[in-house]
Amino acid sequence: MSVVEGKELRIVGFLCNWCSYGGADTAGVSRFKQPTDLRIIRVPCSGRVDPLFVVKALINGADGVLVSGCHPRDCHYSDGNYYARRRLEMLKRFLPFVGIDARRFHYTWVSASEGQRWQQTVTEFTTLIHELGPTPAFPQDQTVLKEVRA
Ligand code: FES
Repeated sequence: MSVVEGKELRIVGFLCNWCSYGGADTAGVSRFKQPTDLRIIRVPCSGRVDPLFVVKALINGADGVLVSGCHPRDCHYSDGNYYARRRLEMLKRFLPFVGIDARRFHYTWVSASEGQRWQQTVTEFTTLIHELGPTPAFPQDQTVLKEVRA
C-alpha cells in the first residue's frame, strides 16, 4: 500500500543491477514500508541510462523519474557512474527547456546494504511528486518533443 495517501502516480526508477537494485531488495526483505508508485527498470549500470530514457519517460506520461546507481568509486564497471553523473546533471539543467519541471527527475547513489537509505530516498521523492501532482500533458505538435518521441 502506498505510504502517500491518495492517487498512485507513475514514477519510473532506473536502478543499477549491482548496488541500487540490491538496496531496493534489501529494503523489501527488511520489510521497510515504501510507497508503491515506483516502477523499477533494472539496468546493468547507471552509466547505461541514456538521458533520453528519462525525457521519453516523462513526455510519455511518467510523473517522475528516479535514477540510482552505485556510490562514486563503487561502480562495478569502475567509472560508469561518473559518466552518469555528468550526463544526468546536464539533463537536470536541460529539462526546463523542453517544458519539464526539473524536480520531477532525481538521481542518487544507493548501495546494496543501504535498504534504509533506499526507503528514505523513495519516500521523499514520491512525496515530492505527489506535491507536484500528475505531469501535465504535452502538446502533440511540439516539434522538439516529436523528435524525442521517435
Ligand atoms: Fe552500479 Fe555502475 S554498476 S553504477
